Amino acid sequence: MESTTVGTVSFESGFPSIVRLARQASSPAKILTNLEPEQRELVGRLLEETGAVLFRGFEVLSIDEFEDVAGSLLGELAAYKGGDAPRHAERGLVYNASGPDKTRAVRAHNELSYAPWHPGTLIFGCSVVAEEGGATTIVDGHRVYSELAPEVREAFRDRGVTYIQHLPHAAGDPSGIKSWAETFETDSKDDVMEHCRASYTSAKWTPLGLLTTNRTPGTVKVGADKRQAWFNQTHIWRKDPSTVPEVTDMERWETWIGYGATFGDGTEIPSEYMELVQRTLNECEVAVQWEAGDVLLVDNRAAMHGRRPYSGERQVFVAFA
Ligand SMILES: [Fe+2]
Repeated sequence: MESTTVGTVSFESGFPSIVRLARQASSPAKILTNLEPEQRELVGRLLEETGAVLFRGFEVLSIDEFEDVAGSLLGELAAYKGGDAPRHAERGLVYNASGPDKTRAVRAHNELSYAPWHPGTLIFGCSVVAEEGGATTIVDGHRVYSELAPEVREAFRDRGVTYIQHLPHAAGDPSGIKSWAETFETDSKDDVMEHCRASYTSAKWTPLGLLTTNRTPGTVKVGADKRQAWFNQTHIWRKDPSTVPEVTDMERWETWIGYGATFGDGTEIPSEYMELVQRTLNECEVAVQWEAGDVLLVDNRAAMHGRRPYSGERQVFVAFA
């Protein structure tokens, strides 16, 4: 599909695909909440074909409107459970997407790709644009996979990834790492261990905190034609052996708080591979410069997302499904 108009809404394929109002309307946010079945189907098709769909001009400005649109497009929303980012719910299952430090970029990632559960779809909504900067970045995972050197992508495809996390007992750790209670949104040690034993590859209490590993694929087959896409967070979680030696030694991990990543079999990911991955991610990055009222749907397996640094009071909501 290239571009088409159905009723009052126009659809244009791209990265991101763009859905707009074809003519002026009195309550545009309501039109997005109440899309007709044929329009809804086109949104689904664009998301499957391109991985990201931007809705522009629908004036989704309040948290109420965003919650309605998110519920309408995604159905039941999910909690941000098991995640590493310091996030708080604005209301119900609508979170603040802005992250801790606006002066630094958030590198592109798939949401919760390191955890046993990750959302299939993300929805962002911007109610207040930054003074300067603050674009949400998106990266097409199919393109990353096809542009990476075969040796690198095949290593991740065939060997997968093991993520290691050692979460402190108490909040406010100097490392900046969230405690296990913050990460899993409960204070119950029993509940956390039950959850981790059921879903992680390994989980144990240590004097410092909770140490888990999660072995998972490094690429996924996704989209209309089920092609391979890049899907991992090793460029953010992996420790460089020149600064943190013995990163593959699980006994050493008991003495550090933090995150790490190895290949699925526990062996080290070479630094040259990581440099190539980061370079390719940078080359494939597309900036979505927000306009107030915009909504962005992202297929979390087919596309990564990040954020450019900004100044001012940017307000971006996010919800997961
Ligand atoms: Fe994210």
